[in-house]
Amino acid sequence: MTLPATMRAVEITEYGKPEVLKLCERPVPQPKAGEVLVRVSAAGINRPDVLQRRGHYPVPPGGSDIPGLEVAGEVVAVGSGVSLWTAGQKLCALLQGGGYAEYCTVPAPQCLPIPKGLSAVEAASLPETFFTVWSNVFDRARLAPGESLLVQGGSSGIGVAAIQMAKAFGHKVLATAGSPQKCSACEELGADRAINYKTEDFVTIVKEATGGRGVDVIIDMVAGEYVERELKCLADDGRLVIIALLGGTRGTLSLNEILTRRLSLTGSTLRPRPVSFKGAIARSLREKVWPHLESGAIKPVIYRIFPLAEARRAHELMESSTHIGKIVLTID
Ligand SMILES: NC(=O)c1ccc[n+]([C@@H]2O[C@H](COP(=O)([O-])OP(=O)(O)OC[C@H]3O[C@@H](n4cnc5c(N)ncnc54)[C@H](OP(=O)(O)O)[C@@H]3O)[C@@H](O)[C@H]2O)c1
Repeated sequence: MTLPATMRAVEITEYGKPEVLKLCERPVPQPKAGEVLVRVSAAGINRPDVLQRRGHYPVPPGGSDIPGLEVAGEVVAVGSGVSLWTAGQKLCALLQGGGYAEYCTVPAPQCLPIPKGLSAVEAASLPETFFTVWSNVFDRARLAPGESLLVQGGSSGIGVAAIQMAKAFGHKVLATAGSPQKCSACEELGADRAINYKTEDFVTIVKEATGGRGVDVIIDMVAGEYVERELKCLADDGRLVIIALLGGTRGTLSLNEILTRRLSLTGSTLRPRPVSFKGAIARSLREKVWPHLESGAIKPVIYRIFPLAEARRAHELMESSTHIGKIVLTID
């Protein structure tokens, strides 16, 4: 197949507001050893893209400066040493960057087949949030059979994945969100109780909903002053995993809670982790989660689709926080 020399992409022309996102012409990247070249059909938008655009989320060494952490599309070429993927196959993939473009390269271990029955748009909405939730809730925080989960930010891209994955594995799930409409969406996705954190105290509701015991695991994107309250709603031996700091980098906490009730406080960011780490998550997702997507037990939640040229509007929507689930760009 003859590939064009150049492609359309969206670049961050300078750090700032959504209008710094501009359409540009870039060389089509070449796959290195172990990489796949993908013709992109759709690219998911994630909050880390917004942080990158504002200058608060540096590109790891070797990563593309073009934003975009997840895509779905078709393999058009492979680098040396790639045997599992060949030209013509459809896939979705977790990237280190470069998704807002007609073509991107990705390490082969970070690619997954499009779950049967899903569209490219739906498949593009999966990798960043599903890798993050699997890594933090199931690997890092070791959510075990019979245990319960609290999802802070239940209507976010991360939240809709976390609620559905935990429900698919039979866990009790509580979730917070900032409006009645968002709370209803969380419950429709399976949350046993959604908590409107603007009108209800999540510590009180979590205690009530768990018979005073508390939840075993919390996935948290707020942190800051939330942490002290979150420790109070963990069960003994509970684990709090922080994946973002929307509420700030500083808070107070009672070390006594940790000491006397054997609590664990941890966190992680996915993007800088090595290919081998991400490849291991991809294998777990394919084996344990992809069947639930193919059966329809877990459904992608697509809130709005924009063409690539309107990436600016997609970021404006994400920053308005009026969305529920995922925002996706399409590339024709
Ligand atoms: N560590 C990692 O590897 C990793 C990977 C991917 C994403 N992330 C982080 O995860 C977060 C979610 O990403 P996303 O792409 O899913 O973004 P998103 O869809 O824009 O979601 C952000 C959410 O934060 C919620 N929120 C803000 N303040 C809140 C509060 N006080 N209590 C409860 N919810 C609150 C908002 O809901 P309301 O409007 O209801 O407040 C909104 O749903 C981002 O901060 C992102 O940087 C981390």
